[in-house]
Amino acid sequence: MDLNKVFANNKKWIKDRLSADPSFFEGLSKGQNPELLFIGCSDSRVAAEELMGLGPGEVFVHRNIANMVISIDLNVMSVVNYAVNQLQVKDVIVCGHYACGGVKAAMQSADLGILNPWLRNIRDVYRIHRNKLNAIEDEEKRYDRLVELNVQEQCVNLIKTAAVQKANRDRGLKVHGWVFDVKTGKLIDLKIDFDKYLSKIMEIYHLE
Ligand code: CO
Repeated sequence: MDLNKVFANNKKWIKDRLSADPSFFEGLSKGQNPELLFIGCSDSRVAAEELMGLGPGEVFVHRNIANMVISIDLNVMSVVNYAVNQLQVKDVIVCGHYACGGVKAAMQSADLGILNPWLRNIRDVYRIHRNKLNAIEDEEKRYDRLVELNVQEQCVNLIKTAAVQKANRDRGLKVHGWVFDVKTGKLIDLKIDFDKYLSKIMEIYHLE
């Protein structure tokens, strides 16, 4: 890729933004007040803001391989705590996507070095839902279902954190699980019943 093109694109973007709103960058420079935290996959096709039709300042974004929320990952936990406690976002979204290379890799037997411990968290999702998944004969459908179940389990991982439990109790913060379908561009709400999971797991994960 010609990186000069990127800088030319940037110039055009500034021009377009300013012609729509002359004080656009002045507004941005005053600070941020996003209402959403979006946790997605690093996959280049999951263009977080673009696929939601949102612009700068509207969404706090964290992306990693296969949109994982791992309790000992200081990176994702810092993002969650900052977004929930400081930025006071109203909604937290875990967004997976079909055709996810990370999820596919976790379905195969291959030694991927440093990726092994990361992907093991997806293998754990498979283990928890093994019976349901093994009952799906079509491999492609099983793969899609694992993408969805992985999103569900990462939402559960969010509910296990003190920050999310406290913000839910004090100001009604919600966690949502979505999947982006790269074949159609559609964003699908998995309609994960936050309250149901909360009541189901709080007995074990309650922190206060
Ligand atoms: Co992916």
